[in-house]
Amino acid sequence: MDLEQRSINAESLQPLFVQYFNHPPVVVAAAPGRVNLIGEHTDYNNGFVMPMALEMINAVAVAPSPTGKHRWVGSPGDSIVELSSQEAVLPGEPFWSNYVRGVICMLERRGISVPPVDMLVDSNVPRGGGLSSSAAFEVAVCTALSTLCGVDVPPAERALIGQQTEHEFVHVPCGIMDQFISANGKKDHALMLDCKDLSYRYIPMTDPSVSVLVIDSAVKHSLADGGYAARRKNCEDACAVLGVESLRDATLDMLETHKAQLGDLCYRRARHVVAENLRVAAFADAMQRGDWETAGIAMRGSHASLRDDFEVSCAEVDTLVGLSYTIPSAEAVYGARMTGGGFGGCIVALVKSQAVEQVAREMLEGYRETLGIETSYIVTRPGEGARVLLLQRL
Ligand code: GLA
Repeated sequence: MDLEQRSINAESLQPLFVQYFNHPPVVVAAAPGRVNLIGEHTDYNNGFVMPMALEMINAVAVAPSPTGKHRWVGSPGDSIVELSSQEAVLPGEPFWSNYVRGVICMLERRGISVPPVDMLVDSNVPRGGGLSSSAAFEVAVCTALSTLCGVDVPPAERALIGQQTEHEFVHVPCGIMDQFISANGKKDHALMLDCKDLSYRYIPMTDPSVSVLVIDSAVKHSLADGGYAARRKNCEDACAVLGVESLRDATLDMLETHKAQLGDLCYRRARHVVAENLRVAAFADAMQRGDWETAGIAMRGSHASLRDDFEVSCAEVDTLVGLSYTIPSAEAVYGARMTGGGFGGCIVALVKSQAVEQVAREMLEGYRETLGIETSYIVTRPGEGARVLLLQRL
């Protein structure tokens, strides 16, 4: 995966759309990927998360199809996939089309009927990198189609539509974080979300002295292969022992009291979640004060806990995080951790801006020397959430 960004916008999609379909798009909408600063594997436990939207987007151009059939292109250069209205609401091949089929089905469940559309998709969010390319896709499709239908679907609802699509059409039992930040991201802000009731607040990230560095481990991750679902199950089992509805209602004291009944595995899984919620609160607090040292300590604690208690990291990601302590410029790194579901993907680090390029170079060099893997990075600011880039009145 390459974290270099190719620019995508309404102007880049329009001529391609015309080449495929011989008429212009009526709507072009975009939704971003995300990086999660802290709060990992807490969302499906009704806990707290603190993601920010990226500047990388998935963009979707649509127009009513004059053929009476759906015609979709999954990325520029690909061939057209043609579907009837009946097929478009059922899971099927090719695999990527399930993201679109799911969204159409969920819109119809809400009484919004989608006419046959011509659609062209393009994205510069790397796939399988833990930066939520799927959520960006779902939210972009939902934003484009609802706009085309002239219906205002609120961002939180679009996030839920994306999540239901993952559950029912992609078979990933994800939480709500990725779709929520993609729909609700705000430029120059991180978002602190309470996944219990979906209340949230934005926290400004405009301090020029600190930068967000994202480095790819070059290990592709997949949440569909069982590890993610197994973690969810461990958390549910822990809730049953503790007699709570979700781990949001558990405390570290409760875990100690029930340690024997929980067993080592569920005890450690639950300890990660309960402690991670506390770390999100500490991080948010520190961030608001501009206390990056304290924020960095919370990030480092988060990584250790994901590695040792939740066991969703991997050797390569641990190597990258380890390098953030040992490179010559290590003192410029406030904190670093794996980000996203785990089992590969990216790390996120908060770094002193004046040294961020140097830190990135040294990390990449160290990674190459230790594991022989070439990889890439980006330095990024919080980007905008889902938006309509173009709307032609019919
Ligand atoms: C994936 C899921 C999210 C969340 C994270 C882990 O990104 O899609 O819902 O559970 O993993 O924090």
